[in-house]
Amino acid sequence: MKLVDNKAILSFSNGAPSVELPIYAGSIGPDVIDIRKLYAQTGMFTYDPGFLSTASCQSAITYIDGDKGELLYRGYPIEQLATSCDYLDVCYLLLKGELPNERQRNDFHKLVINHTMVNEQMQFFLRGFRRDAHPMAVLTGLVGGMSAFYHDSTDINNPEHREIAAIRLIAKMPTLVAMAYKYKIGQPYMYPQNHLSYAGNFLRMMFGTPCEEYKVNPVLERALDRIFILHADHEQNASTSTVRLCGSSGTNPFAAIAAGVACLWGPSHGGANEACLNMLEEIQASGGVAKVGEFMEKVKDKSSGVKLMGFGHRVYKNYDPRAKLMQETCNEVLTELGLENDPLFALAKKLEQIALEDDYFVQRKLYPNVDFYSGIVQRAIGIPVNLFTGIFALARTVGWIAQLNEMISDPEYKIGRPRQLFTGSPRRDVPPLDKR
Ligand code: CMC
Repeated sequence: MKLVDNKAILSFSNGAPSVELPIYAGSIGPDVIDIRKLYAQTGMFTYDPGFLSTASCQSAITYIDGDKGELLYRGYPIEQLATSCDYLDVCYLLLKGELPNERQRNDFHKLVINHTMVNEQMQFFLRGFRRDAHPMAVLTGLVGGMSAFYHDSTDINNPEHREIAAIRLIAKMPTLVAMAYKYKIGQPYMYPQNHLSYAGNFLRMMFGTPCEEYKVNPVLERALDRIFILHADHEQNASTSTVRLCGSSGTNPFAAIAAGVACLWGPSHGGANEACLNMLEEIQASGGVAKVGEFMEKVKDKSSGVKLMGFGHRVYKNYDPRAKLMQETCNEVLTELGLENDPLFALAKKLEQIALEDDYFVQRKLYPNVDFYSGIVQRAIGIPVNLFTGIFALARTVGWIAQLNEMISDPEYKIGRPRQLFTGSPRRDVPPLDKR
């Protein structure tokens, strides 16, 4: 970051001396006012619940221009990456800063593919869960549990450990997600096959059985790979910030990523894809397209507590570019599977059309986000609804680990320790029991 000539002057109406605050510029995007010395200079904190105006770190990984509807990974537009690269190329890019050349690409693909197997003990650990446990509960446990299996990559301050942990996490997440699914449905786990692509391998571990050969459908393989690319990173969102905060204490990478998985689960974040599909199914069950108008009235009525899931975003105030790509993939997958007339897809398109023309949504700049169509694609592929967020976690793991490693390598990194505006009782004495 670069110090700019411009300075912010903070003055007070009560006559207290004003304070000069430095301003830094990044390469693109808003400048930041450096308030690190504010408390020492004024005895005051800043107040910004939800981080509406706070840059919590500097980062060179992902850039979002919410007004333009632009998403860049290391400077490359998501549209180009989604059409010209595969997920592992994108992983390389996010982790290392540049796209791999041919040799680097082959080496990296080989490295990841050769780490897909998990310690055999993992399946006994998995067995401790109820079969009806939510996959995100299982995944939080399994990912956290990795720190008990891979002791040679748990020192977050050791760059080599961080690198091995990154490869292990990216490689093993599909295996763990597929194991969680197989456990739930009572089928045998499928060991990974190293000759398959990352996405192809996952499809086979999910839907193959030891009884017959599994043939990977290239259209579904490409669709899944695209879902992975679109979810790979998204700058300082809730789960990424959770990973950074958790990792800032010096905990091991597996524990920090498990914290990210737990945060992602919520319906305002990664859980929105599951919530969105449940919403579409409910509208469909209550009468389908004919009931869309009625449902939208409920969404606009604040007292109903109903939200249009898969709509709205803290940063995108134009259009989520991932939603466009996902809609394209949705068309491809449904055509491939002969589901062009899928009623949920028709319903989703109708909802989108109404919302884009409705004042409530237009005024609030609410557009479809990535989750609006990703559920329909996943459901068509055969992924059960409650595993959608697990797929998101699998894909986001690379972003979390890239952000975590960036933080640890940053000389300015400190343990995260937000402050507060205290509104509780000042000091008081404990009354005796008969006086309470
Ligand atoms: N349906 C109806 N109204 C909405 C919606 C929605 N989906 N999203 C926002 N609003 C309204 C909100 O009620 C508020 O209205 P008002 O100004 O009258 O009070 C206004 O729009 C601004 O919303 P906000 O809650 O202040 O916006 P936020 O930036 O804090 O929240 C959000 C962003 C994503 C949490 C929210 O839009 C939301 O809950 N969307 C549905 C869940 C969802 O799809 N989440 C996935 C996000 S993308 C994937 C990911 O990052 O995980």
